[in-house]
Amino acid sequence: MNRKRVLSGVQPTGSLHIGNWLGAIKNWVSLQNEYETFVCVVDLHAITVPHNPKELAENTLKTAAIYLACGMDPKSCSIFIQSQVTSHAELCWLLNCVTPLNWMERMIQFKEKAIKQGDNVSIGLLDYPVLMAADILLYESDLVPVGEDQKQHLELARNIAQQRINSKFGTNGKDILKVPEALIIREGAKIMSLIDGTKKMSKSDPNDTSRIGILDSPDLVMKKIKKAKTDSQIGLEFGNKDRPEANNLLTIYSLVTNIGTDRALEECSDMGWGKFKPLLGEAIINALEPIQNKYYELRKDNIALKNILKQGNIKAQEVSELTLAKVKKALGFIENI
Ligand code: TYM
Repeated sequence: MNRKRVLSGVQPTGSLHIGNWLGAIKNWVSLQNEYETFVCVVDLHAITVPHNPKELAENTLKTAAIYLACGMDPKSCSIFIQSQVTSHAELCWLLNCVTPLNWMERMIQFKEKAIKQGDNVSIGLLDYPVLMAADILLYESDLVPVGEDQKQHLELARNIAQQRINSKFGTNGKDILKVPEALIIREGAKIMSLIDGTKKMSKSDPNDTSRIGILDSPDLVMKKIKKAKTDSQIGLEFGNKDRPEANNLLTIYSLVTNIGTDRALEECSDMGWGKFKPLLGEAIINALEPIQNKYYELRKDNIALKNILKQGNIKAQEVSELTLAKVKKALGFIENI
């Protein structure tokens, strides 16, 4: 029997941070043996906001190497580059033509990012979630492991598949596209900024001390943790709405140590910030050390890295072409001549 499929991706913009790892990549790693897994570096998404062409290719390789360093295994999954699998842009166009504009204008991330850009908002930024829907739907994905911030985009992908393709163009009750499920694992689904526990940790925050980069040096990690916002209470706890920083930093501690929330709470519920912060800093440094070692090892051989991506691109192209052909047929396009 065919295994169920997983697809996910990260944008190669800025430096990946521990939110990307704990909210998404860590979950991909644990799914790859059970599911047929596809993970892509979504470089077409990276140009929906102004970008630096001198950095895009390097950031793409960097992101792929981080996937591998975090434990994605090319023997168990396909790692590919979105822009090199042409079906993504093609399906995006087809979906664009059946998706109502007012569905797009409701997207929270679009509204947030658009505000920052004033008059410079591109059509690509508005269209970002349709391209993401194409990414997901092409692989007939069953599960899409993402952080909490992607929930609305996942809902859109489901609605496009169900309401705009299957119900309009499906014949004899047969679906054309598989309707995917989001997989959002509660712990880690929303890692917050180190300088404001009510704001998501984000690659685009202009203040670098708001996040811990996966490749940050041990000194830098410790410096950022020491600077992290705290409150005036003693003792760490989960779930107190008045103490978002305590909740966030204790969550990070429980995830990087893998000890679970009960033990983390047991260990830290009476601890003052002065004792907790160095403990947390050390725990993050220890968790990142093997990832960073593997990352720098991988980056010594870009040819080997590109070979892994080439294999991933080939597999992704094969699988995605089948879905694209199915959609084109349902929409009435002439067969390839
Ligand atoms: P991106 O690059 O913004 O984020 C990549 C993944 O990291 C998760 N994430 C977080 N999780 C927890 N806490 C945080 N602070 C945090 N910040 C980010 C995101 O939820 C995401 O899972 N649109 C996607 C990229 C994409 C995609 C796809 C994902 C394009 N096509 C198809 C899945 C399937 C995004 O925002 O990436």
